[in-house]
Amino acid sequence: MHDYHDFLGEILIPEEKLQKRIAELGEQISQDYQSENDLLLVCILRGGVLFLTDLMRQIRVPNAIEFMAVSSYGTGNRESTGHVRITLDLISDIHGKNVLIIEDIVDSGRTLASVLEMLSTREPKSLHVCTLLDKAERREVQVPLRYVGFSIPNKFVFGYGLDIDEYYRNLPFIGVVDLEKYQAS
Ligand code: PRP
Repeated sequence: MHDYHDFLGEILIPEEKLQKRIAELGEQISQDYQSENDLLLVCILRGGVLFLTDLMRQIRVPNAIEFMAVSSYGTGNRESTGHVRITLDLISDIHGKNVLIIEDIVDSGRTLASVLEMLSTREPKSLHVCTLLDKAERREVQVPLRYVGFSIPNKFVFGYGLDIDEYYRNLPFIGVVDLEKYQAS
């Protein structure tokens, strides 16, 4: 593992800007769910973890959290198969609850499309999505995004939950990888 400075192309979203936007999202969510009980934040592992923990501290209505992990079918990557399976399921029953899915990034949309389809069969009262990043240019499947932190260009981003080969998720900002430098490092 290398020092990220070796391949950081640019800081796309600095920490302050991230946290300011997360506070805004928390405020919006608090208003939208103020008359509801049973707000359940469902974090999709692993990338959404940092976003979840910061966002939930900005939400003023009572909320519970759950975690879910998914992976692609077979050995091919998700883009090639287009289907995902649950590798870690929710512990609680979401029937009749207001479910808000927390994601770090929506790219092709395939992960979320599958998750939404699977969770909707469990008959929650409502089912919406909050994603920190939206890379709309890459979309292959349309998915309804109720809350979006930032729309970003089609660049290889990392940090704040997003990994490069599983590392660098802990960085407090969103950076862009300089691929030439990364391959050389
Ligand atoms: C990322 C991200 C989303 C998904 C988005 O997860 O967290 O779940 O990819 O891509 P899509 O819109 O093309 O489906 P990843 O599979 O990298 O797992 P991770 O969160 O554990 O890093």
